[in-house]
Amino acid sequence: MRVVELSAADTHDLRRRVLRVGTVTTSADFDGDESAVHLGVIVDSDVVAVSSWFDRRHPDRPGVVGRQLRGMAVEPSLAGTGLGSTLLSAGLERMRSGGAGLVWARARDTALDFYASRGFEVFGEGYVDLSTGLPHHDVIRII
Ligand SMILES: CC(C)(COP(=O)(O)OP(=O)(O)OC[C@H]1O[C@@H](n2cnc3c(N)ncnc32)[C@H](O)[C@@H]1OP(=O)(O)O)[C@@H](O)C(=O)NCCC(=O)NCCS
Repeated sequence: MRVVELSAADTHDLRRRVLRVGTVTTSADFDGDESAVHLGVIVDSDVVAVSSWFDRRHPDRPGVVGRQLRGMAVEPSLAGTGLGSTLLSAGLERMRSGGAGLVWARARDTALDFYASRGFEVFGEGYVDLSTGLPHHDVIRII
């Protein structure tokens, strides 16, 4: 298992299969993909987990250098086997060493426990994300 840097296009298959099923938007493209850092986990030359990290401060924490984590997705047959945690840790470390002080995400409510048990705080009121139609909360972690 290796954590590697990917191109945006390398993330699309997993984004589409995991994050764009039954959602309002079916596009796997995110605004700003061209300048984001994309990290993934490779097992046996397959991309089995993806994540994308955008140079974007949280609107309510404009004074802190922030990165927005988007598009966390793990191959469904491998969910719950530690790949997401490995990728999250590697990404947080990379953002910290790149000068960020905070990482935040617009998290699906179904993933809130995952983030909360990995050092993120739930921030603010819940909302329905327009591109998916699913309930979300922001989560923030100081790094
Ligand atoms: C959420 C997700 C990234 C976690 O990665 P993972 O590799 O499955 O997680 P790990 O094996 O490292 O850790 C297990 C944790 O993930 C949670 N988890 C497992 N499958 C999950 C799923 N399908 N959806 C949400 N959380 C899940 C478990 O509850 C467990 O939490 P706990 O350790 O706090 O009890 C991954 O399951 C996934 O891609 N889920 C669907 C897409 C999604 O919700 N992405 C996040 C969008 S904000």
